[in-house]
Amino acid sequence: MIVCSCNVLSDKELREAAARLRQAPDGGVVTPGAVFRALGHRPRCGGCFKAVIPIIHEAEPRQGDSSEKAKEKETAK
Ligand code: FES
Repeated sequence: MIVCSCNVLSDKELREAAARLRQAPDGGVVTPGAVFRALGHRPRCGGCFKAVIPIIHEAEPRQGDSSEKAKEKETAK
């Protein structure tokens, strides 16, 4: 599903780019801007951020959460 209409970015692209950023050895905080840049785009109107933020953080393990459930959730995608 297209989430960002300015850049025609789908939820899948955003989720995958966020996962790559998280796994990068020098990975910093995963922000919408960082994810957009990783995809070769930049935010324009910002109207999609309300939808983008939960998508890019949905697979992110919570701090201190090392439960099997979190690991399963990560590998299921
Ligand atoms: S809809 Fe994503 S920047 Fe405009």
